[in-house]
Amino acid sequence: MENQLRCYSDIVAEVYNAEKIITDTSSDQVDVESVVLNLYRQFEKNAAIDPDLPKLNRNVHSKILKSWLNGLPKSYECLDASRTWIVYWILHSLWLLNDMPAEDILSNVVQFLSHCQHEEGGYGGGPGQFPHLGTTYAAVNALSIVGTVEAYESIDRSSLQKFLWSLRSVDGAFALHRGGEQDIRGVYCALSVAKITNTYTDVLFDKTPEWLVGCQSYEGGFAGCPGMEAHGGYAFCGIASLALLNKSHLCDMDALLRWCVNRQMRMEGGFQGRTNKLVDGCYSFWQGAAFPIISAILSQDNKELIETVFFNQSALQEYLLVCCQARDGGLIDKPGKHCDIYHTCYGLSGISVAQHGTGAGDPHIVGSPRNELNRVHPLHNVAPHFVYNAVHYFIRHPPPVKDKN
Ligand code: FPP
Ligand code: ZN
Repeated sequence: MENQLRCYSDIVAEVYNAEKIITDTSSDQVDVESVVLNLYRQFEKNAAIDPDLPKLNRNVHSKILKSWLNGLPKSYECLDASRTWIVYWILHSLWLLNDMPAEDILSNVVQFLSHCQHEEGGYGGGPGQFPHLGTTYAAVNALSIVGTVEAYESIDRSSLQKFLWSLRSVDGAFALHRGGEQDIRGVYCALSVAKITNTYTDVLFDKTPEWLVGCQSYEGGFAGCPGMEAHGGYAFCGIASLALLNKSHLCDMDALLRWCVNRQMRMEGGFQGRTNKLVDGCYSFWQGAAFPIISAILSQDNKELIETVFFNQSALQEYLLVCCQARDGGLIDKPGKHCDIYHTCYGLSGISVAQHGTGAGDPHIVGSPRNELNRVHPLHNVAPHFVYNAVHYFIRHPPPVKDKN
């Protein structure tokens, strides 16, 4: 895959051709391309004067992330059931920017997450809320980023394991919450949490590999459930889950790779989530992180592939840096959208994935070397050493056996 920064004329050559068949889908694509093209045109002019461009505006991103940790605008009221997610997105973004909050703030975060822990195991999205696998995954990731004994010990692993068992069904799928929908996110969140906290057992995930393989669609990507449409968010969950289970050989890897490669937009440089849809900054991680996972799997049989990155790392960074940075901090889905914490986290995670590729070679940084972000573990989306430290802590400190009386 070509990896040089594209010049404006190369980008223009990639514009979409609707072939005179105008539909809502084709005109939305044309509209997005015209805004993106203007930004790239302006960027080329600016870069001719300042060779350090494009620049990652680290300071404004850090500033807005820290302000979100203190309090959120009213518009976030609708995310009251996702507060553990918000904590994870902020901490992970600050880690990527190498600007972690002070110890006392991290200790407050641990206290807050403890209030979100449910007595029956797992975490709700906020204090007193019912537990959910998504908000549990977010809480466990956030606590592994904090990485202190206080953070690790705040997790009740005995009840967590019971919670995971309560959501498992006989075919190997997982519901996201008691009585809730089953989809591939449930499997991924259960697996990621179980692996990090060392509550994983083979029997808990018996039949899960086969259920996951049933989610691979005729297009090659993974869907939320068997028989549904392939989507980048689900493709990440599918391949990360199979990798965590060491069962990736069961899926059709060539078809998955072909599908993933074709989700990178020729002109915009970012990824779409599914066929015939629009570019969106958050897929920079969901689609982007599938590549280092696939490279790691393929290189088990062919060592030469360990440094092979199957997407255009420059084009992805260019999209995120030129088109997705909000002026006052934070990242966005696409030009014209407002910034939000989710897109900030997954946009920054995507920049990191694009910079570090498979993790084996030298980083590939677009713009100044000061744009470099910290690395992530593509299976969990926290730093590799946070995963390692947590796993080793939990291996050394098994949960206390509770008195049955
Ligand atoms: C479509 O949204 C979105 C989906 C079908 C699911 C997205 C799933 C994820 C992002 C993965 C979540 C993962 C975890 C671990 C919880 P849309 O129709 O608004 O967007 P589109 O047009 O880009 O497809
Ligand atoms: Zn998005």
